[in-house]
Parts: sequence; C-alpha cells; structure tokens
Amino acid sequence: MDNNKSWIDQRFPLTKVWNEHLAEYYTPRNFNFWYFFGSLAMLVLVMQIVTGIFLTMHFKPDAANAFASVEYIMRDVDWGWLIRYLHSTGASAFFVVIYLHMYRGLLYGSYKAPRELIWILGMVLYIALMAEAFMGYVLPWGQMSYWGAQVIISLFGSVPVIGPDLLIWILGDYAVGDPALNRFFSLHVIALPLILVVLVFLHIVALHTVGSNNPDGIEIKKNKDKNGIPKDGIPFHPYYSVKDIVGVVVFLMIFSAVVFFAPAMNGYFLEHANFVEANPLKTPDHIAPLWYLTPFYSVLRAIPPMFGSQFPGVVGMFAALLILLALPWLDRSKVKSIRYRSWPYKAALAIFVISFIVLGWLGMQPVTELNALLARIFTVAYFGFFILMPWFTSIGKTKEVPARVTE
Ligand code: HEM
Repeated sequence: MDNNKSWIDQRFPLTKVWNEHLAEYYTPRNFNFWYFFGSLAMLVLVMQIVTGIFLTMHFKPDAANAFASVEYIMRDVDWGWLIRYLHSTGASAFFVVIYLHMYRGLLYGSYKAPRELIWILGMVLYIALMAEAFMGYVLPWGQMSYWGAQVIISLFGSVPVIGPDLLIWILGDYAVGDPALNRFFSLHVIALPLILVVLVFLHIVALHTVGSNNPDGIEIKKNKDKNGIPKDGIPFHPYYSVKDIVGVVVFLMIFSAVVFFAPAMNGYFLEHANFVEANPLKTPDHIAPLWYLTPFYSVLRAIPPMFGSQFPGVVGMFAALLILLALPWLDRSKVKSIRYRSWPYKAALAIFVISFIVLGWLGMQPVTELNALLARIFTVAYFGFFILMPWFTSIGKTKEVPARVTE
C-alpha cells in the first residue's frame, strides 16, 4: 500500500478520478451560452428521477385507479401537486434543453470526428427519452394518454406480415388497457431510467476521451504547452463547475415560473383532454402527441397510405429520426463551427430548423388540405437537409479557422 495516499485513495481512486475528470480536466476556455445545456440535461434527469420516485409512492398502475390516484396526488398528498407539476413540466423542460443541446451540435459541428460516438450515444439517449416520455404520458390514464397510446401503438400493426401479432404482443391485449398500463409503468419507472443513466455515463466517458469541442470548432489538444496542458484549456473545476451554476440558476428561475404559473402551458405541456379520465368509448375530436414528438408525427401524417396501409408513413417517421445518426458521415465540410462555414451550409441549416419547427406546429393541428400540403413540403425539406448534405457541405467558400480559440 502507498502510505502517502489517504485512507480512501488507498482503496478507491477518488483523487485520481477527481483530477482526471474535474480539477485537471482541461476544457476549452471559450464556452458560451450553448454549452450550458449538457449540465442542465443532467440536472433535469436527476430531478425527473427524484420526483418520479415520490410520484411512484402514490400512483396506482391500474386502469381502474390510475386517473383517481393522480387526482389524489394533486389534491390530498402533501405537496403532491408540486411533485407532479415538477415532473410533468420537467418532461417538457427536458426536451427544450435537449433540443437546444442538439442544435448546439449542429451549430458547432460537435458530431464531426472525433466526436461521432458522443453524437451516436446522444441520439440513443434522445430515442430512449422519447420512449420514456411517451410511456410516462400514458400513465395518468387521461383521454389523451389512452387515445395517444392507441394511435401510436396501432402503427405497429401496419408492419407487413407480423404487424397484427406484434400489436397484440406489445399491448398484451387487443386494445390499450390494463396490461399496457402495467408494462408501460414498469418500463417508465425502472427499465428506461436505468438505460438513460447508463447512457449518460457512456456519453460522458466518450466526451472525456476526446475532449469538448467549442464555438470555434478548434481542437485544443493540438496546441499544448511544455507541460502537456492545452494552451486554450482551463480546468473544468472550478471554472466551469462554477459557471454552470449560473446556467442552473437562470434555468430554475424560468422553470419555476412555468411550474407555478402555467404548469399545463395552455395545453402544450399537459393537454386539456388529459384532465378527463380515459374513455375507450369516446374518441377525442383531435388526437395529437405532446409538442416534442409532433415533428415526427407530422412526417407520419405527411406520407400517404399505400394499399390502405400506413406502413410507409411509419417508415418515414422512423427514418426522420434515425437519419440524424448519419450526420457525422454526411457532413463533408473541412470546418466544424458555423462561424467559419460556407453560406450554403448556413442557408441549409436555417431551412432545416424552420422545417423542424413548422412540422412540429403542424403535428399539433387538425389535418386540413392546406396543412397536409405544408407537411409534405416541409417533410421534403427536412429530408433534403440530410440527403443534400454531402453536396452543400463541400461547396462554397469557408473562412480560415484561426490557430487559437477566439473570445
Ligand atoms: C439525457 C440526455 C443528455 C445528457 C444528460 C447530456 C449531457 C452532456 C454533457 C454534460 C455534455 C458536456 C457539456 C456540454 O457540451 O454541454 C454533453 C456534450 C455533448 N452532447 Fe450530450 N447529453 C444528452 C443528450 C444528448 C443528445 C440527445 C445529443 C445529440 C443527439 C448529444 C450530443 C452531445 C455532443 C455532440 C456533445 C459534445 C459537444 C461539444 O463538445 O461541443 N447529447 N452532453
């Protein structure tokens, strides 16, 4: 045993881990606003797990009692209303933070080599998060929980050959009911949170292996001083551990304002129909998922059925999601950051962002002829961003990237 080490360090690499990942972990010194969202995503994940544990103490995963148990939490459990609104608002906040976190990746080319794995693990996190949110929304057993699940799960029935059997296997029944509620509860409370935590750990391991990108898209490890420390790097702790607290405080101020003053966000965070108990005999006039899933729901609705089957739409919806995984290989640009990119990339990114937002908005609207046409146009624009990317990232004039990061 090395007696110069503390009792703990002789038995566990505490100081080593602390130094390698915090006090002597060198991070680019030019991080801006966009670099707050990774730590905020971790904060929201912890908050969801903690509030989720308390909700689970009072929730009943049973079709006959689920809705009433949520009402009980809201009215009778001490601080139950706050725990539930923290959790339901937390779900939307999670996606706000994640969408900004992903957009930062697009702005600064953070998915490009050597960070492809960070991006892929991030994408798996995003997909797991969507599944987690979708199943969580079914649990309160309101009208939208029930009918949203019915619409989305029935899509699996359109898979050729195995569809009908697959549907019954997923639901454990012929329609959404008690077995579905029970298994969604188990997946939402145990399986997916575990997967999310493991994935976040792997995401950070991958990040710490290659180091962070930055708003200039310069690899700070390429420019080290005589001690082997990147000239443009500063230790994560205390510099960014303290800076991240600023992000946390601002986030919590905005988040609390929503939790206390507009937890349902006029139907955007909790739909009006979900304050009515699930009724399998009464379909709501208009069924739509929550805002964070609607861009993909729009793609689904934009693609017309073929031979009476919705399968092409289902393929399109999953393709819209999975195509993001290919981003590191579709982008041929020499530079990473938007600061030095050519104008064709900037224009394409702007069209992509507009398409994603418009598709999201259309997904919440009833289908009309005009809406269907717009959904098709913006679906083409959405896919166009990826399909044309190898071309528009290799044309146009990029700016010279400086040797050192800029302020
Ligand atoms: C629960 C979800 C997630 C958590 C907790 C998380 C956490 C983090 C943290 C703490 C960082 C370092 C700080 C920062 O750069 O902001 C980071 C970096 C990164 N994340 Fe995530 N992340 C999540 C989801 C995602 C998703 C969905 C994507 C993309 C599909 C993604 C892609 C990236 C990339 C590319 C980086 C490196 C960025 C750079 O160095 O410029 N992450 N993440």
